[in-house]
Amino acid sequence: MTSIQEKAIRLLDANAKRGKGYYYTAPSRKKYPHQWSWDSSFHAIANCHLGRPELAKEEILTLLGKMLPDGTLPHIIFHDHSLASISNRLFRFYWPYPSRSPLVQPPVVALAAKEIWQQTEDKRFLKQVLPPLELHFKWLATRRRFRDSNLVSIFSPWESGLDHKPAFDPMLGPFAKLPLGHYFVLYTSEMRMARLKFDPEKIANRGYFNVREVLFNTVCALGLEALGTLFAANDDHYKADSCHSYSETISKAILDECHDATSGLYYDIDVSTGNLLRDTSVSCLMPLALTHIPKDDYEALVDHLTNPDEFWLKYPVPSVPQNSRHFKPASRTYLWRGPTWINTNWFIAEGLRKHGYVELADAISQASRDLVEHSGFREYYNPLTGEGGGVQDFGWSTLAAIM
Ligand code: GLC
Repeated sequence: MTSIQEKAIRLLDANAKRGKGYYYTAPSRKKYPHQWSWDSSFHAIANCHLGRPELAKEEILTLLGKMLPDGTLPHIIFHDHSLASISNRLFRFYWPYPSRSPLVQPPVVALAAKEIWQQTEDKRFLKQVLPPLELHFKWLATRRRFRDSNLVSIFSPWESGLDHKPAFDPMLGPFAKLPLGHYFVLYTSEMRMARLKFDPEKIANRGYFNVREVLFNTVCALGLEALGTLFAANDDHYKADSCHSYSETISKAILDECHDATSGLYYDIDVSTGNLLRDTSVSCLMPLALTHIPKDDYEALVDHLTNPDEFWLKYPVPSVPQNSRHFKPASRTYLWRGPTWINTNWFIAEGLRKHGYVELADAISQASRDLVEHSGFREYYNPLTGEGGGVQDFGWSTLAAIM
């Protein structure tokens, strides 16, 4: 075991929370003490590769155990309400199921479940996770698809996991530009959705924030592929085939609908206008992680990734390219507007390896480990200097230890 792996294990243990009927790893002990859906899934993937699949199992079963009856997988779960922040207490008293968010995050959970299965071949675990995973992906396919597109919609920047990504700015109005206005706009829009009881159909009809986001849909395609593998392991080949074919359908829809022919990048779609939200960020590169993508399209993305004016900085891959007017490498007020994050690096490195770009993948993995060596497991990093930003001892940065 390498020294970074030992440090990763110590951090995952220090952030672990166990109580009556739950086990999970907090993204950060102080600022993010609750369970977040995609964070937990990354923690489980890290634990699996660090030789601790049993902990990974518990974390994923805790998460799936809190699924809402209709198949919504909460983006945040408050297992211990006494840890809730003032803003959470003020603005989130209207959640229909107390302590369980009615919003979602990218369904990384299926990737975590697949990793656990591949490490353990535990049939009991397989049988436990298949029904909730199937329900969640059905919910995404039936309740979150609108107007004949095969792509899934998100209703809040928080659902993307990329909270303050510049592409969302035009959707949020001028108020969001004021200091801390962004947070206010996101909380109040959650309250407007609460008046509609978070009913997806009603939210979509009102024309509120409704975006087909590239990262979210890429993770849906990967998640369905993983679910297909799990069904096949359970000898349910009919369901396995339909997951694989729906995964390919989503991939194709990303390539057809989000593609910008001029640049070769992939942009989110504002469902109310049908327009592409042309502000470049790391999510425009996410099809690098897809399995089904033509070689020419893939190479066009690699050209952007390796362009030193855009994404190929000293510590790649920045959340916003250097030549964007939004590039703020050391921004601390708003997230995802320049710094490098380890989870998006993990997706990109995995994708590059799958497509044979091993040296590039290695370079991203090495840069991620260098960041951790220099600055510790921080929430994000300055892509020019490697300086850490945001919270310390941040959970998913442990992915650097397994890349
Ligand atoms: C921030 C990130 C989000 C993450 C959460 C907990 O809000 O933008 O992706 O899930 O923190 O770490």
